[in-house]
Amino acid sequence: MEVPAVSTEKLTRRFGELVAVEDVNLHVAAGQFFGFLGPNGAGKSTTIKMLTGLLAPSAGSIHVLGLDLLKDSLEIKRQIGVVPEGMALFGRLTGWEYLNFVGRMYGMDRATTASRSQELLEFMQLADQHKKLVTDYSHGMQKKLALAAAVIHSPKVLFLDEPFEGVDAIAAGTLKAMLQRMIARGATIFLTSHVLEIVERLCSHVAIIDKGRLVAQGSLEELRAGVGASSGEKITLEQIFLRVVGTAEGSTRELSWLE
Ligand SMILES: Nc1ncnc2c1ncn2[C@@H]1O[C@H](COP(=O)(O)OP(=O)(O)O)[C@@H](O)[C@H]1O
Ligand SMILES: [Mg+2]
Repeated sequence: MEVPAVSTEKLTRRFGELVAVEDVNLHVAAGQFFGFLGPNGAGKSTTIKMLTGLLAPSAGSIHVLGLDLLKDSLEIKRQIGVVPEGMALFGRLTGWEYLNFVGRMYGMDRATTASRSQELLEFMQLADQHKKLVTDYSHGMQKKLALAAAVIHSPKVLFLDEPFEGVDAIAAGTLKAMLQRMIARGATIFLTSHVLEIVERLCSHVAIIDKGRLVAQGSLEELRAGVGASSGEKITLEQIFLRVVGTAEGSTRELSWLE
């Protein structure tokens, strides 16, 4: 059996009284484009932070590429790329300097780092901004640079938290092209999103989290079957989502002051 790219068992994270992630068992096979979907506050960012070693679990286990995250976190970090929530880039560098710095940090030689940095800046349409400091980049430009930095060492698994948040259509197209390229090269992508259409368009496999608990997991076809859709019935991910998560209480309530 092939080693899964990511697997968790009873993954749990508490913040005081709050159980943000509870008993989550994830299975992401190598090569999958995996979408982790859920409403705001469901526990997506908390989960992805745990999967990438940025936040310690309260309980449960995590394996990435067959390695135990608690024991082999350094080796795992060499083989993955991450764009976390609220990514903090080093602002006092230009994009070119930033990518070179990251590449060297991964132990890549100077020449490879330089040529990949240039290639990535061109791909992301940031090459003409070579004098601009990262602080002065727009939000979308920062997201593109963060993704470029996350893939410079050619990671086997890429973790992205809401990669399309606040990104315009053109930048989103560039990001998608990049991700599809990674998938074509055999990488695994794990992305979170609260936007159904993004997950539906890009991902082959999906897990849905709600209030810290996994409520569905599988291929899009499996999820359709899971909510009782007969084969051939063209049910959208939105309909699946509403059936498994249910319409939130209060969402139909009127706002008295909004008239
Ligand atoms: N550092 C923290 N301290 C306390 N509560 C937190 C912290 N991080 C997240 N939470 C809470 O955990 C829950 C899940 O948050 P999060 O994982 O960010 O959700 P999502 O990314 O799905 O929107 C929320 O109720 C959030 O307020
Ligand atoms: Mg989040």
